[in-house]
Amino acid sequence: MSETLSANDAIATFTVCADAALNGLIEQLPERLQGVAFAGEFQHYISTGQRPQFPQSVRKAPGCVAWIDFDQDQEAALETAEVLHRMSAPTVTCVGVASQVETSLLLRAMRHGCSEFHQKPVTIEHLKETVERIKSRIFVQMESSAPRGRIVSFFGAKGGVGTTTLAVHIAAYLAKQHGKKTLLVDHNHQLGHVGLLLGLEDSNYHFDDLTRNVDRLDAELLSGFLIRHASGLAVLSSPSTCSVRYHAMPEDLERIFEFLRQEFDFVVIDSSLQYDDAPAMIQYSDSVYLVSTPDVAALRDLSRHIEHLGLTEVPADKLRVAINRSASQDAIGQEQIEKVVKFPVSVSIPNNYGELLRAVNAGEPIWPQRRSEFTSRLTRWAHQLAGEHDGPSALSQHAPRKRFSFWKTEKVQE
Ligand SMILES: Nc1ncnc2c1ncn2[C@@H]1O[C@H](COP(=O)(O)OP(=O)(O)OP(=O)(O)O)[C@@H](O)[C@H]1O
Ligand SMILES: [Mg+2]
Repeated sequence: MSETLSANDAIATFTVCADAALNGLIEQLPERLQGVAFAGEFQHYISTGQRPQFPQSVRKAPGCVAWIDFDQDQEAALETAEVLHRMSAPTVTCVGVASQVETSLLLRAMRHGCSEFHQKPVTIEHLKETVERIKSRIFVQMESSAPRGRIVSFFGAKGGVGTTTLAVHIAAYLAKQHGKKTLLVDHNHQLGHVGLLLGLEDSNYHFDDLTRNVDRLDAELLSGFLIRHASGLAVLSSPSTCSVRYHAMPEDLERIFEFLRQEFDFVVIDSSLQYDDAPAMIQYSDSVYLVSTPDVAALRDLSRHIEHLGLTEVPADKLRVAINRSASQDAIGQEQIEKVVKFPVSVSIPNNYGELLRAVNAGEPIWPQRRSEFTSRLTRWAHQLAGEHDGPSALSQHAPRKRFSFWKTEKVQE
């Protein structure tokens, strides 16, 4: 299992073959600099054949800084830098230190993986600046490589086209079939049907509780607002009574979504274009599905919405059209729909009225095990979304981590 790293963990520093003065200074660093821990010292150089056994503090750190003293043996120090630099767990930034620093040594050290090089004697201020610089680089890298949750929102071209049905099924499939940490938000200001379709009890907490508490939002508070479906899906339901409409500020929505992205792989939103905050919802979503049925009234509205969203500069690549109940009798065909709305159809879900009626009454989605064209289209759709979240590097992420054979160094602290 991969180890979870967080920006709250301290950067680990350790020394390799350092003299007493250098060791003493590195040991003092944590007193002078927050977020830095001293992991210990290696008394031998590291080579491909003799790799160190790293303690937990090093393996779990978001990043490490190795101070390699070159004075005992330059060649062995260079090999140490190379071995450490190539490691991926933990990620090690190598800093060389030597009494004599010539240009040729500097260049070789850089080529072997040293990011910085210092001439002795070094001062604590000097070391502090170096670690601060490396630390900020590590965190920038962590932020840009951290997987971010995707916001997928659903809007009906008009009422009753099946927006909630599709949002519920996609969210449930992502959670159950793909094991994605998924939140389904019923953004209806009142009387939404998400809870009903999933057979959930009424909740006292709704989307507007997030907006009201935006300043103190954290994982614990959020979990108190959510209801869990047996599939693992987390749900933020809509009020089951007639309620006053609330108004969310776009900047609050942005903060909420940024927060939710960190907590979930997917946030699926069942929303409505009628709401004032729909433009902001669309802006912060990664994918926006416009749901329509293949009939003249819904398609007229769909084409107007697409025109309007185009004018409001919503990037076309996040907009997707989903045609629901596509196989119903007398329905307009996909080619004709694309001509009328001047937009490609991404998803087409067939009519499945009888089964859906039973599913709603039972308060349970229709799962893929119930083989039909309806479930196989939904399965493909969820599969495609899950793939977008995993990204092109999914394969390498899921590959087992390389294990090193280690040797122990007594002085490294656990
Ligand atoms: N593919 C489908 N085949 C047959 N019936 C469907 C299909 N999708 C949805 N329905 C049915 O259409 C009706 C409306 O569905 P749903 O509540 O999901 O629509 P909606 O667009 O969310 O409506 P609203 O605008 O009221 O929020 C429900 O009875 C539902 O079971
Ligand atoms: Mg609905």
